[in-house]
Amino acid sequence: MKLPPLPVAVLISGTGSNLATLIRARDEGRLDIDLRMVISNRAKAPGLDHARNGGVPITVINAETAGGGGKQDEEIAACLEACGAELVVLAGYMRILGAEIAERFAGRMINLHPSLLPKYPGLDTYSQVLATSDTEHGSSIHFVTAELDGGPVISQVRIPILDDDDPQSLAARLGPNEHRLLVATVELFVHRRVKMHPEGVSLDGKRLQRPLLLDDDDTFTLE
Ligand code: GRF
Repeated sequence: MKLPPLPVAVLISGTGSNLATLIRARDEGRLDIDLRMVISNRAKAPGLDHARNGGVPITVINAETAGGGGKQDEEIAACLEACGAELVVLAGYMRILGAEIAERFAGRMINLHPSLLPKYPGLDTYSQVLATSDTEHGSSIHFVTAELDGGPVISQVRIPILDDDDPQSLAARLGPNEHRLLVATVELFVHRRVKMHPEGVSLDGKRLQRPLLLDDDDTFTLE
């Protein structure tokens, strides 16, 4: 039996290249998703143009819209429930969500992070990794929990670090790989194959011992 398109909401703050990737994959029929809502904390986030061009409704929620108090998460949760999102993607959303909303959406909210978690949580992962002797960098997609960049990791993509890399060149090479990772990972949700459990992540009912690793041909290897 064919499943209905997966209702998805995306939270952004900036350029929205990952949002654009989801819109393109939807439009090209590569990803059976129903993009219900884009929420931004910045009214002028450049990424909102992708939502407009892609016909995705937009809601701006920040301290001003939420009346200054600590009500932003409540507004976001209400908006996500109202639009019927079954999967919420934090794609460059540069504001930390509180424990309450993380718990409310546990198992249905994922975040993209530009490092091979658990290495380098937080900001500027490119400078962090270049200050080490690591030979690889990458991106991770993890379930959101109350711990910042700390929820169970679903999938990763790796790229080599080159001798002459600086943070900009590393970020530029990671971007397209992160986009591939996002599409392949959301595809797992489209087919309802991946779930969060108290002890981690399961794929097709089997617990993952390690994150799924994206190959060059956009399929996953169980390491
Ligand atoms: C990505 O590198 C993602 O890993 C991080 O923020 C960046 C968002 O980029 N969380 P964009 O706004 O999707 O272009």
